Amino acid sequence: MLNIPKTRDQIDQWQSLMFLYNSALKEISVKIEILNNEFIQIYKYNPIEHIKTRLKTAESIVKKLKLHNLEATVENVEEKNNDVAGIRIICSFIPDIYQIADMISNQSDVTVLHVKDYIKNPKPNGYKSYHMVVTIPVYLSDGPQETKVEIQIRTVAMDFWATLEHKIYYKSQGKAPDYLQQDLKACADVVDVLDAKMYSLNEAISAWNNEEHG
Ligand code: GTP
Ligand code: MG
Repeated sequence: MLNIPKTRDQIDQWQSLMFLYNSALKEISVKIEILNNEFIQIYKYNPIEHIKTRLKTAESIVKKLKLHNLEATVENVEEKNNDVAGIRIICSFIPDIYQIADMISNQSDVTVLHVKDYIKNPKPNGYKSYHMVVTIPVYLSDGPQETKVEIQIRTVAMDFWATLEHKIYYKSQGKAPDYLQQDLKACADVVDVLDAKMYSLNEAISAWNNEEHG
């Protein structure tokens, strides 16, 4: 049985905490939507295909803390857990990822705590994505509360791979045989080729449009 808090006080604390993370998700979503809309307005181009947000359940928060031998206290959630509030931004092309990451980092009320660039340094299994953990202030009645959000930015092709890899690998509970892991890695290599090809096609078509009709 998971040690989910039960006393009235603890429940109130957890509810406030989840409210805070949920509010942070809303704030970051609006910021990103505004950046995308501004881009469309200026360049007639949308770097973002879609956005997904998710709030971790109390059960998975407690499970993760337990995994690290930590007690399920509000302090531990705030300090040790970076991904209670998570947002995934799916972009068209790789350069869009870096542009979006820059635009987010440059917002004056966003503080970047750390970055993991699994595009420049993919995981051994082939996983690629750009991760940032940031804080943004949530304005409550008694003042701003800096709140952590995990941001994952990837292309449509990277997202296709990661979503299916998670589904496939999860079923094996992390114990898939070597040859299946190699197949997944081979699929990740196909994703690289696809991303590079789609990008160069887009560049070529833009150049052609400018020459012919510019
Ligand atoms: P977690 O404790 O798993 O959250 O990882 P971490 O704190 O070491 O951070 P990392 O940036 O490595 O991973 C954060 C999140 O990225 C995970 O919760 C997943 O959503 C995603 N992720 C990381 N590695 C993989 C992977 O190999 N496959 C898939 N499908 N997703 C991954
Ligand atoms: Mg995680």
